[in-house]
This record gives sequence, structure tokens and C-alpha cells, in this order.
Amino acid sequence: MIKKYIMTPGPTPISGQVLREHGRPLMHHRSPEFSEIFIKATGKLKKFMKTENEVFILTSSGTGGMEAAITNAFSPGDKVLVASTGNFGQRFKKLSKVFGLDLIAIDYEWGEALDPEDIREALDRDPDIKGVMFQFSETSTGVLNDAMAVGEIVKDYDGITIVDAISGLGASEFKTDEWNLDIVIGGSQKGLSAPTGAAFVSVSPKAWNLIEKSTMPRFYFNLLDAREAANRKPPQTPWTPAISIIVAINKAMDLLLEEGFERSFARHKLLAEATHKAVERIGLKLLVKDPKDRGQSVTSIMVPEGIDGKKLSNIMRTKHGVTIAGGQGKLKGKIIRIGHLGWVGMFDIITAISSLEMALKDLGFDLDIGAGVAEAQRVFYENKFFGE
Ligand SMILES: Cc1ncc(COP(=O)(O)O)c(C=O)c1O
Repeated sequence: MIKKYIMTPGPTPISGQVLREHGRPLMHHRSPEFSEIFIKATGKLKKFMKTENEVFILTSSGTGGMEAAITNAFSPGDKVLVASTGNFGQRFKKLSKVFGLDLIAIDYEWGEALDPEDIREALDRDPDIKGVMFQFSETSTGVLNDAMAVGEIVKDYDGITIVDAISGLGASEFKTDEWNLDIVIGGSQKGLSAPTGAAFVSVSPKAWNLIEKSTMPRFYFNLLDAREAANRKPPQTPWTPAISIIVAINKAMDLLLEEGFERSFARHKLLAEATHKAVERIGLKLLVKDPKDRGQSVTSIMVPEGIDGKKLSNIMRTKHGVTIAGGQGKLKGKIIRIGHLGWVGMFDIITAISSLEMALKDLGFDLDIGAGVAEAQRVFYENKFFGE
């Protein structure tokens, strides 16, 4: 028997309580029973995103939320700015091209955070930019971008912000309204630790102004239809929603609210710190050099010279049952990523580090086995966060 651990930055591990809710007998989406859950889940997501704006739950993975934001906010030919810090920034660029937008891109080194002042300069140069898109947490590198600073800048221009907060929500403080963020996108399988298959988007009044004027062809992800359905009594969705996932999200939100957002952020901070320190103690290097650019959802680790990254993660998965993520795009084969997002505790990190050490040893890497585990344990023990 090999016990399995999913240590990726999405999908993330799901608790038994959430799985039990997800497995409830299906209820009809027009039934009063579901309606009550739908209203509650949407209300809790607003708290999660810290917004009074409307929040819509879409039946799609996170990318559907990104596509919905773009096809609703813009019209073909609109000038948009993408500040790309990695593979998911590239996805915003690809989507912009597919939908015929006039794309201006600022590309950062993968492993570096964006500089909000570059966005100010771009907006000053091109004041007709309709939207600024970026990732809050860039999952492909582990960088956390300063969404507050970008929101503060963009609010004084005509354009809106579209923020992919898919892997940052739940792990790091995020304030949609206070930070002046217009369209914010989240996903069910990340910080919420719910099943895959639902995205949620919040829409500000400034964004509605654009959406109401948009001439972009769209059908399934039409947010005007979503708003019309949400305004019915009781609120509905234009199409059959992902009923069981919404039921699971409602429960996942209860668990998060019970823990408290601040405590959840503090837990993620500690999980990230223990992972960073343990990895460095093993003698490996982190991709994100500047500690202030590092997020709390995922740790990207450089694969050491002479080690095959694919073999490394294969050993961890097949011998130890520990699934981690590899590099994406141009970082494929160059990094491995350990997720510490969602329903994750200190022993998950200790397990992942232990597996990493043993797999490295198998591949002939020179290390003092157990040193990384001891370092993680030390961080957890000295912090006294767990088991107070
Ligand atoms: C930052 C970010 N954006 C977008 C996505 C895409 O989401 P999905 O794979 O759910 O479509 C992910 C998923 O890994 C992500 O982490």
C-alpha cells in the first residue's frame, strides 16, 4: 500500500468533510434546497474575495474565468496590457491574441515580480488602454505580485484591472474592494481545496461599464446573462450549474471561515517558510531569488545540475506516493514545485521534504539525509503555530 499525498499548487488536497458534501445525492438546481446553498456559497465567496461586487460561479476551470473576463470586458481591437511574470501571464497574452485584442505586453524574468511603476508608465504612454491583466500569485514561478499597488495606479485611469487570483486567494491576504480591483478570478481547486471544475469572478461597477458596451462574440460565458439570472428571485444561473461542486465550495468556505482568514494566511506563511528553509538546508536553490517576491502558495526549486527533474518527481510519486509539480513552459525540466496551498498542514510539508531527500539520494545527489526534514521541523516547532 502506498499512501498518496497531493502536494501540487492545484488541484490541492480535499478534506473528508468537503468530499462528503460533494458526494451528497444530487439536488435539482431549481430546488429550494439548492437555492439556499447557492445563495450561501456566493455570499461566502464575496467574503473570501473581500468584495461587495457581484460574484458569479462559472462551470469551468480557472481558464474559463480568464476567458470570461476577456470576452466580456473588451471588444475586438481594444488595447490591453498584460504584465506577464510567467506561464499564466502568457495565457492572458494568448487569450488576448485569440480574441483579437491589441496587445501590449510587459514580460518579466520568470521568478521576478512585476514592477507597478512599469504599468503606470505604460498607461501614461497609452491612456486608451482598456484593461490591465496580471496574476496575483503566478503559480508557474511562485511569485506574488503586488495587486494592491497595481489597483492603486489603475484606478486613476479609464482602464480596468483583471486579476488572476486563482492560486493566491486563501493563501495570502487579498482585498478586492479596498485594493480597487475590477475583475477578480478564482478557482475551486486551489486555496479552497474543493473539487476541480468551478471558477468564480467578481465584477466591479467600472467593469460593468465596459461589459455593457462590449461587442465581443460570446455565449456560454456571458456575464450579462449571469447577472440577469442572479437577479431573479431566487437567484439562478443561466445554465445548469456545477451543483455538486457548489455544494462542496459551500462546505469548504465554512472550514475556511471557521479557521479565519488571518489564521489561514499565517498558516500558509509558515508552511512556505518551512519549505523554503528546508529546501535551502538540503542544498537546493529557490527560483525566486528575492524573498519579498515569494508567495505562500507554492515553492519553486531549481533542479540541481546533473539531476533529471522528471526522474526526481517520478521517484517521489511512484516510490513514495508524493505528487509534486514540475516546471511549466520554459521552466519545464528546470524546476520542481511543491504546493502548500489549501488544506495543508505541517506534516504534509515534512512528508514532501522527506520524500524529496530520499529521491535525491536515489539519484546520487550528495546530501545529509534528514537535514531538510529537521529544518522544517525546527521552523514548525519554534513557531508554536500548530497545536497551540
Ligand atoms: C495562476 C493561475 N492561473 C490560471 C490557472 C488556470 O486554471 P485552470 O487550470 O483551472 O484552468 C491556474 C491553474 O493552475 C493558475 O494557477
